[in-house]
Amino acid sequence: MTEPNRRTGTPSGAGIDLEGVGKTYVTDAGNVLALKPTDLKIKPGEFVVLLGPSGCGKTTLLRMLAGLITPTEGVITINGRPLFNERTEQPSRDALGDLGFVFQQATLMPWRSVWRNIALPLETRGVKKAERRERAEQLAAQVGLSDFLDHRPRALSGGMQQRVAIARALAHEPSILLMDEPFGALDAMTRDNMNEMLQKLWMETGKTVVLVTHSISEAVFLADRIVLLSPRPGRVQDIVDVDIARPRTLDTAKQDRFNELVVRLRGQLGEVSA
Ligand SMILES: Nc1ncnc2c1ncn2[C@@H]1O[C@H](COP(=O)(O)OP(=O)(O)OP(=O)(O)O)[C@@H](O)[C@H]1O
Ligand SMILES: [Mg+2]
Repeated sequence: MTEPNRRTGTPSGAGIDLEGVGKTYVTDAGNVLALKPTDLKIKPGEFVVLLGPSGCGKTTLLRMLAGLITPTEGVITINGRPLFNERTEQPSRDALGDLGFVFQQATLMPWRSVWRNIALPLETRGVKKAERRERAEQLAAQVGLSDFLDHRPRALSGGMQQRVAIARALAHEPSILLMDEPFGALDAMTRDNMNEMLQKLWMETGKTVVLVTHSISEAVFLADRIVLLSPRPGRVQDIVDVDIARPRTLDTAKQDRFNELVVRLRGQLGEVSA
């Protein structure tokens, strides 16, 4: 069940609920406590950013939300339904259909054109070609790639390749988009453009977004709420509401409130990693 998006009235993202979710990796060298039991409620259509020092468990948390690794303890629910089957520890098919994932590297198939990369998740779901092409065109327009549908990935810049990866993650119409440092490998100017594009896409589609970043200014630019994690073993150290109007633009970074939040978070990150 999705609720209408507060901005556009179209169907929007799903809610995510974490109750006591923790992860210990078991390795030959011993156990690694990566994430202490964590409680977090993410509202449908919310943009949440996970921020914290290297090794604090951001990727671990995101991969558990994606159903890629099983929590050692606790329960994750998506729209009120458990993500993992308690007995088999496998993620539920329904819940997986609600999730799209974007990694730091675009990992496109070099031999496929842009549109066929975007449409890949539809092909694996058996959607007919005409419909795949139509949906890919729609998505390409949303991420600003309409002129590149028939290009191969190698003809695109890093930022453009990441736009393809975002469009591909949305192809099966998930209500949640999970992003792990999606712009971490891009130069500063491209990153600013990508942030603006992502904000616009999010405002238009009303998806729930959970994004991991190391960048404090990126977190403040994008987030409704920033979840600040402490160094390993990670735990939620603070949750910061970003009370800055949208749409945010490059000028927003000049506002006093933006800088107050950046300075505050920098202080907190400095404190936690000291
Ligand atoms: N498969 C694994 N086996 C054992 N330990 C792991 C595994 N994956 C991650 N860890 C450990 O768990 C901790 C959290 O790792 P994780 O990758 O979640 O951190 P992160 O916050 O994403 O870091 P970064 O900002 O560098 O990407 C680290 O100490 C890491 O070494
Ligand atoms: Mg990581």
